[in-house]
Amino acid sequence: MKYKKIIIAIDGYSSTGKSTMAKRLAAEIGYRYIDSGAMYRVVTLCALRNNLIDADGTIDINALNRLLDVIKIDFVVTPNGQRTYLDGEDVEQEIRSMTVADNVSAIAAIPSVRKVLTRLQQDMGRDKGIVMDGRDIGTTVFPDAEMKLFVTATPQTRARRRYKELLEKGMKATLEEVMENILRRDKMDENRKESPLRKADDAIMIDNSLLTLDQQHRHVLNLFHEIARTNDDC
Ligand code: CDP
Repeated sequence: MKYKKIIIAIDGYSSTGKSTMAKRLAAEIGYRYIDSGAMYRVVTLCALRNNLIDADGTIDINALNRLLDVIKIDFVVTPNGQRTYLDGEDVEQEIRSMTVADNVSAIAAIPSVRKVLTRLQQDMGRDKGIVMDGRDIGTTVFPDAEMKLFVTATPQTRARRRYKELLEKGMKATLEEVMENILRRDKMDENRKESPLRKADDAIMIDNSLLTLDQQHRHVLNLFHEIARTNDDC
């Protein structure tokens, strides 16, 4: 059986397990996995470190734009998963903090930030063979992606998953804080002007509230086989 190289775009709400789904699929089919949310998180971390976000949430957009010209974001795949680097420093752990999560959706709503990151993401997909997850991958970044998924789960399931993940990483948060954060971010992501979170018309909806990781993996792998299979050898 022959398969063509395609782009797989996975979008959906916060903490729906998109990255777990994307990573496992990418590993199985030998594709590159890119977590676009990590890029928005890195820019947020950078803004926080440079004191560009006031206590009242006002962002110094001009200063942020100047930073965007010079910062360098890298992803390195290690045996223990993907690591995100900011100017050569491993910031994988720091970008997952609640402080970054509390500010990221405001940063992601800034058009100039989206423009720079969208271009970087499109460059990464130039040769296809990529799985990218985020909020606007199937609608804005790769509107022509051959395979598009839109992932949902109930808010309770999502908050429990993210809470467990944070505890496992030794980070502090309460279940209530996590729930409040993901619901607030979803609302901001859905209501922003630029590339809001929405399902692309041609995306396949997956509600994984009741699916085990293995069931979910088999489902998306079958979809990949159906979509990427070519008839070249017939
Ligand atoms: O891990 P989680 O699903 O909660 O979020 P993430 O994928 O790390 O993304 C963090 C934030 O970045 C989201 O809440 C969005 O505000 C923003 N984002 C975006 O606007 N567009 C993307 N393609 C990816 C993330």
